[in-house]
Amino acid sequence: MKFLIIFFVLFATNFDFGLTQARAGQAAQNLCRNKNNGVFPHEEYCDYYYQCDASGEAVIEACPNGLAFAGHKRGLVTNCDYPHRVGCPDGTRVMGQQPIGGDNCQWQYGVFPHATSCTRYWHCWNGTATIQQCPFSLLYNDVIHSCDWPDNVPDCQKHPICKDVPNGAVLIEKSCVRYWLCVGGYPRLQRCPAGLAFNPTALRCELASTVAGCEPPPTTANPEDDEEEQGDSNANKPSSGTQARPQPQNAPTPQQFRPSQSGVRLVGK
Ligand SMILES: *[C@@H]1O[C@H](CO)[C@@H](O)[C@H](O)[C@H]1NC(C)=O
Repeated sequence: MKFLIIFFVLFATNFDFGLTQARAGQAAQNLCRNKNNGVFPHEEYCDYYYQCDASGEAVIEACPNGLAFAGHKRGLVTNCDYPHRVGCPDGTRVMGQQPIGGDNCQWQYGVFPHATSCTRYWHCWNGTATIQQCPFSLLYNDVIHSCDWPDNVPDCQKHPICKDVPNGAVLIEKSCVRYWLCVGGYPRLQRCPAGLAFNPTALRCELASTVAGCEPPPTTANPEDDEEEQGDSNANKPSSGTQARPQPQNAPTPQQFRPSQSGVRLVGK
């Protein structure tokens, strides 16, 4: 029986063939005896599971190629989820199906690294790869299959933002409240707490009223909201497109809260 299962798995070309053609073993049948419509894990393979049919008979089911059993009605697709989300392999069980790869997909379903980019990765769904971009300054970490702080991704180059200050704060020219915090050569986007602004000389957040060009407007408007809502309302102000941090001699008008600039827009909320 065991040989037969291995034979089937090795020569499976599609997850509908192979192990699912085999009959569930006695142990599985015993588990199903009083559990109609239940599901439970396969003993050896993460990507197969037992389904007890209405008559209490155990039937071997396969997860979509690249996914692993997650539990009854759990996971992305019928009872199945990404292996890294369900802890497979776990020392006992491994993936049993053959990967069905394709362009940029190692399996039909999954999240996979990009061959040349640290900031991009592939999301594969039923064999179709869609490119994804990590937000902010995050990099794709294939250990956790998602975007991560760059200092957790040792294979990728250190970031140019931090080339002069590998550990410390770095000014973002056009923002009063945001700045980069470099940690081990990798930038993390930071934001000063409400009421504070980034002092470009001291390189830290200080009371906004003491930071030239970043003083709060003489209204009750919340300066943080002002920055979020920037955009077209400021777009036609003179020189707003290229002006950096306002100079101290400039009148402290609401203009200080930045026109829409790509550097600010990139970081979103
Ligand atoms: C997967 O793609 C195939 C065609 O490549 C299609 O026949 C099948 O229905 C799709 N399955 C799902 C679950 O979308």
